[in-house]
Amino acid sequence: MEAADIENDIAFQFHEATFSTVLVCHCKGMNDRAVRRVVRAGARCVSDVTRTCGAGGVCGGCRPVIQDIVEAHQVKDEADDLGLEFAAAR
Ligand code: FES
Repeated sequence: MEAADIENDIAFQFHEATFSTVLVCHCKGMNDRAVRRVVRAGARCVSDVTRTCGAGGVCGGCRPVIQDIVEAHQVKDEADDLGLEFAAAR
Protein backbone atom coordinates (compact mmCIF):
# COMPACT_ATOMS: atom_id res chain seq x y z
CA MET A 1 0.00 0.00 0.00
CA GLU A 2 1.44 3.35 -1.01
CA ALA A 3 1.52 6.44 1.21
CA ALA A 4 -1.27 8.10 -0.80
CA ASP A 5 -3.44 5.01 -0.38
CA ILE A 6 -2.82 5.00 3.36
CA GLU A 7 -3.64 8.72 3.54
CA ASN A 8 -6.86 8.15 1.59
CA ASP A 9 -7.76 5.21 3.80
CA ILE A 10 -7.18 7.26 6.95
CA ALA A 11 -9.25 10.12 5.51
CA PHE A 12 -12.00 7.66 4.63
CA GLN A 13 -12.00 6.12 8.09
CA PHE A 14 -12.14 9.60 9.63
CA HIS A 15 -15.11 10.43 7.41
CA GLU A 16 -16.84 7.18 8.25
CA ALA A 17 -16.36 7.72 11.98
CA THR A 18 -17.26 11.40 11.96
CA PHE A 19 -20.25 11.86 9.76
CA SER A 20 -23.64 10.35 10.42
CA THR A 21 -25.35 8.18 7.87
CA VAL A 22 -28.40 8.96 5.78
CA LEU A 23 -30.96 6.40 4.74
CA VAL A 24 -30.71 6.19 0.95
CA CYS A 25 -32.93 3.26 0.06
CA HIS A 26 -36.02 2.98 2.21
CA CYS A 27 -37.18 -0.20 0.51
CA LYS A 28 -33.99 -2.10 1.31
CA GLY A 29 -32.94 -0.15 4.40
CA MET A 30 -29.57 0.81 2.92
CA ASN A 31 -27.79 3.92 4.12
CA ASP A 32 -25.24 6.06 2.30
CA ARG A 33 -22.37 4.36 4.07
CA ALA A 34 -23.44 0.95 2.80
CA VAL A 35 -23.92 2.26 -0.75
CA ARG A 36 -20.51 3.96 -0.70
CA ARG A 37 -18.97 0.71 0.48
CA VAL A 38 -20.46 -1.05 -2.54
CA VAL A 39 -19.17 1.69 -4.86
CA ARG A 40 -15.69 1.50 -3.37
CA ALA A 41 -15.80 -2.25 -3.92
CA GLY A 42 -16.20 -1.68 -7.65
CA ALA A 43 -19.78 -0.73 -8.52
CA ARG A 44 -19.58 1.79 -11.38
CA CYS A 45 -23.27 2.53 -11.97
CA VAL A 46 -26.64 2.34 -10.24
CA SER A 47 -27.33 -1.08 -11.75
CA ASP A 48 -24.07 -2.41 -10.28
CA VAL A 49 -25.14 -1.15 -6.85
CA THR A 50 -28.57 -2.72 -7.25
CA ARG A 51 -27.13 -6.06 -8.32
CA THR A 52 -24.72 -6.04 -5.38
CA CYS A 53 -26.87 -4.94 -2.45
CA GLY A 54 -30.41 -4.51 -3.74
CA ALA A 55 -30.58 -0.75 -3.18
CA GLY A 56 -32.59 0.84 -5.96
CA GLY A 57 -34.19 -2.40 -7.03
CA VAL A 58 -37.70 -2.05 -5.64
CA CYS A 59 -39.51 1.27 -6.21
CA GLY A 60 -36.49 3.01 -7.77
CA GLY A 61 -37.08 6.22 -5.86
CA CYS A 62 -33.53 6.21 -4.49
CA ARG A 63 -31.80 5.65 -7.80
CA PRO A 64 -30.99 9.38 -8.32
CA VAL A 65 -29.29 9.49 -4.91
CA ILE A 66 -27.36 6.32 -5.68
CA GLN A 67 -26.33 7.91 -8.98
CA ASP A 68 -25.05 10.96 -7.07
CA ILE A 69 -22.99 8.73 -4.78
CA VAL A 70 -21.52 6.85 -7.76
CA GLU A 71 -20.66 10.12 -9.54
CA ALA A 72 -19.12 11.64 -6.41
CA HIS A 73 -16.90 8.59 -6.08
CA GLN A 74 -15.87 8.87 -9.74
CA VAL A 75 -15.00 12.56 -9.29
CA LYS A 76 -12.88 11.67 -6.27
CA ASP A 77 -11.10 8.94 -8.27
CA GLU A 78 -10.40 11.40 -11.09
CA ALA A 79 -9.07 13.98 -8.62
CA ASP A 80 -6.86 11.31 -7.06
CA ASP A 81 -5.57 10.40 -10.52
CA LEU A 82 -4.64 14.06 -11.05
CA GLY A 83 -2.98 14.23 -7.64
CA LEU A 84 -5.54 16.67 -6.28
CA GLU A 85 -6.64 16.50 -2.68
CA PHE A 86 -10.02 17.21 -1.15
CA ALA A 87 -10.10 19.65 1.73
CA ALA A 88 -12.24 17.15 3.66
CA ALA A 89 -9.48 14.57 3.38
CA ARG A 90 -7.19 16.60 5.63
S1 FES B 1 -36.25 3.54 -1.96
FE1 FES B 1 -34.72 2.36 -2.92
S2 FES B 1 -35.82 0.98 -4.17
FE2 FES B 1 -37.34 2.07 -3.11
